[in-house]
Amino acid sequence: MNIVILDTSQQIARLAAEQVIGVVQSCESPVLGMAAGATPLLLYAQLIHCYGKGQISFRSTSTFNLDEYVALPPDSTNSYRYYMQSNFFDHVDLQAKNSYLPDGRADDLQLAAKRYERTIASTGGIDLQILGIGTNGHIGFNEPGSSFASRTRVVALSDSTIDSNRHYFGESGAVPEKAITVGIGSILDSRGLLLIATGEHKAEAVRAALEGPVSPICPASAVQLHPKVTVLLDRAAASQLTHRDDYIKCQQTPPGLASATPR
Ligand code: GLP
Repeated sequence: MNIVILDTSQQIARLAAEQVIGVVQSCESPVLGMAAGATPLLLYAQLIHCYGKGQISFRSTSTFNLDEYVALPPDSTNSYRYYMQSNFFDHVDLQAKNSYLPDGRADDLQLAAKRYERTIASTGGIDLQILGIGTNGHIGFNEPGSSFASRTRVVALSDSTIDSNRHYFGESGAVPEKAITVGIGSILDSRGLLLIATGEHKAEAVRAALEGPVSPICPASAVQLHPKVTVLLDRAAASQLTHRDDYIKCQQTPPGLASATPR
């Protein structure tokens, strides 16, 4: 694992974007795994900025999002489809037919989940999976207890995840209690993982994920099993790491992160 601790979210976004761009430029038909939530917003803004400057094209890229709420229409402002369109897809040259999210409105959700898994496989698999982390250690919507062999499926959201996401839905909006998520086994199939976390509220989950036992109790701890992982943290998110100073001392510049300054 390459754990990089930086001062600001903006630095994290720049380094994350460099890694994404490195993958997109080095693959003929790049496949990116996308995450929603507040954390990757600056990364998407940075990618849009680089696209605007002509530094990158997503014309031949395919994207697969990690998850989608069940039953929310795609034009609902709280759906992850809406989030992706407004925060990324609508601002770059990604072809509409190449942006995939799980179909949370399918009549047969189990079938939709299986199909999603097959579609990912038919593109050759994910080159780089972007990941955030929930305060309870979830990745995608794989809640504590999710099997490391899990595939794309319908899941019930934990109370803590429903609470964490409540502010997006406003006072009166009911937070969906189910979602379709790519499984942990599917995430581990990706050729590279890029985990981003910022803020003190993520510090305990980050510690459990990176230094705790590898256990479904902390789904994000599965990243310890992957051979090619970059973790980008700000100091607040890294604050509970026991070996924090060692990570900073041994900090390497991951491929594609040329401007990462070793401390
Ligand atoms: C959400 C998403 C995850 C995301 C996580 C953290 O529930 N399903 O994919 O990584 O929670 O979100 P945020 O970045 O807003 O803290």
